[in-house]
Amino acid sequence: MKAIIPAAGLGTRFLPATKCTPKELLPVLNKPVIQYVVEEALEPEGVDEVVIVNSHEKPQIEHYFAEDKDFDAYLRAHGKIALADKVAEASSLPVSFVYQDQPLGLGHAIHCAAGKMDGEPFFVLLGDYFVPDRQMCVRMAKVSREHGNCSVIAVAPVPEDQVSRYGIVAGECVGMLDGSPVTDSEAEGAVWKLSGMVEKPKTEDAPSHLFIVGRYLLTPRVMELLATQEPGAGGEIQLTDSMLKLLAEEDMYALVVDPAEGCDTGTPAAWAATNARMALKDPEMAPAFKEALGDVEL
Ligand code: G1P
Repeated sequence: MKAIIPAAGLGTRFLPATKCTPKELLPVLNKPVIQYVVEEALEPEGVDEVVIVNSHEKPQIEHYFAEDKDFDAYLRAHGKIALADKVAEASSLPVSFVYQDQPLGLGHAIHCAAGKMDGEPFFVLLGDYFVPDRQMCVRMAKVSREHGNCSVIAVAPVPEDQVSRYGIVAGECVGMLDGSPVTDSEAEGAVWKLSGMVEKPKTEDAPSHLFIVGRYLLTPRVMELLATQEPGAGGEIQLTDSMLKLLAEEDMYALVVDPAEGCDTGTPAAWAATNARMALKDPEMAPAFKEALGDVEL
């Protein structure tokens, strides 16, 4: 089973930094953002390969995951064994690449990886966000197993004035993942049976205020639907539109998650906050980080 990470975007929100460095390679502490996402993608049982949908404009992503024997030998010859091991960790990850050279939308990006899915279910992880304990997709896989291996997406409440930025779902809560009684249908762990979804609705058209977080476990049928998907919101080929078609044929579920469980790296401000949060949690880095912050007023 494979996971797809779309990574062909231009990263305009991070210009000028992203003029020469793909936003996926911006570091959180000393590791590129995309490596956190790849490691998260490999966590659920059965996932053995991550397919990155890249553009030919960003070969640096492939260089990062490729083995560099000379550099490895150089580091080891200079006694930098721990660093060489860290570099080798990235190149040992089972990562492969496909290309999306036209920005036609998320649905189009995912379909670019269709030939690699072997007709099996697959995960999609959007790369502007990562979950440090890597458990979100693992819980989604559990929901899927409990409901006949159906498609499952992660959702979370969003303020009403922000619904137009996201995919929004409709449905009803059918229980809690841990089997406890439902006291709040939008609480973390609530499982919803979906009845609809819409990409970037106007506030008045939103069927709920549960937004699609960017973690999907999808059955292979959605790839066939994506092949003929017409452009939707923003003139782009939307994954949400093909998932809505999938819903007409198959049951789909959603798991309510707490988005704060993960770290956002989608804007410079969110990325900076994620670095601060991760530095404060890192036992080796935290003391020096706090000292460097000094008396900064928050
Ligand atoms: C995409 C999806 C949307 C989802 C969002 C989460 O939108 O199309 O359904 O809610 O990611 O970040 P984008 O952010 O690419 O516009």
